[in-house]
Amino acid sequence: MTIRFLTNFKARALLLLGSIIICILPGVFSSGVVTLKSIQIFKTHELFNAKPTVYFNCEGENRTIFPDVKETHVVYTFKGEESWQPLTELPDKKCKRCGLYEMDILKSADVFDEWEFCSSDFLDPDGNYVHFKDKEFNATFLCPQCVHLDNMFSMLTMIADSDHASGSHHGADTGKGMHVILVVLISAIVSTLSILGAVAAYRYWQWKKRQQDQARFLKLFEDGDDIEEELGLGPVL
Ligand SMILES: *[C@@H]1O[C@H](CO)[C@@H](O)[C@H](O)[C@H]1NC(C)=O
Repeated sequence: MTIRFLTNFKARALLLLGSIIICILPGVFSSGVVTLKSIQIFKTHELFNAKPTVYFNCEGENRTIFPDVKETHVVYTFKGEESWQPLTELPDKKCKRCGLYEMDILKSADVFDEWEFCSSDFLDPDGNYVHFKDKEFNATFLCPQCVHLDNMFSMLTMIADSDHASGSHHGADTGKGMHVILVVLISAIVSTLSILGAVAAYRYWQWKKRQQDQARFLKLFEDGDDIEEELGLGPVL
């Protein structure tokens, strides 16, 4: 009974630990899939007001044409499931050279912007990253897998640094909010683990004690036999 409960408990603890590890590992080892959430272009590079063909491209990859993006100053939002999504995958700790371009029949493509696209840019806890270039475009990219503990910790140190920095309190409120959430999250994980550890230790101690009691009980029986023999009350033939 006790042993069954113990293994049951162990199994549950292992399951929990496993799921925690599974939750954390993908962010650490796999690359994050990036989708386009919204885009707004502020100008086109076409002559004669022709409709532009806007596309996204990372060096060495196929280009992704945005078939709907035709008008300036219109915010196009996407679900992330469109036929041309996702845009790319960003590996951990390695940026890609990507850009937003407009096709041109006569010459090589016009460039809205070209930049180093990194998974560490996705600092927002929801996995959003806004890339804005004045007079060119404003795009929000989404990569939930890019947000992992590494980012959380660098954010924590960033917040700590900004807290230590004297003078400007600009953005300190949002930083403090994040700080509090992180501290709560980390303490929740730590306390869950320590409670689990304490319960496991207590169960083990209980089991050990019961075994000792059992051994003592059996020993008592054996001793009882000895006493009977000594008194000559052994089996009568
Ligand atoms: C860019 O787009 C995002 C999302 O639509 C918006 O929140 C942000 O204010 C925009 N930024 C600028 C500078 O237009």
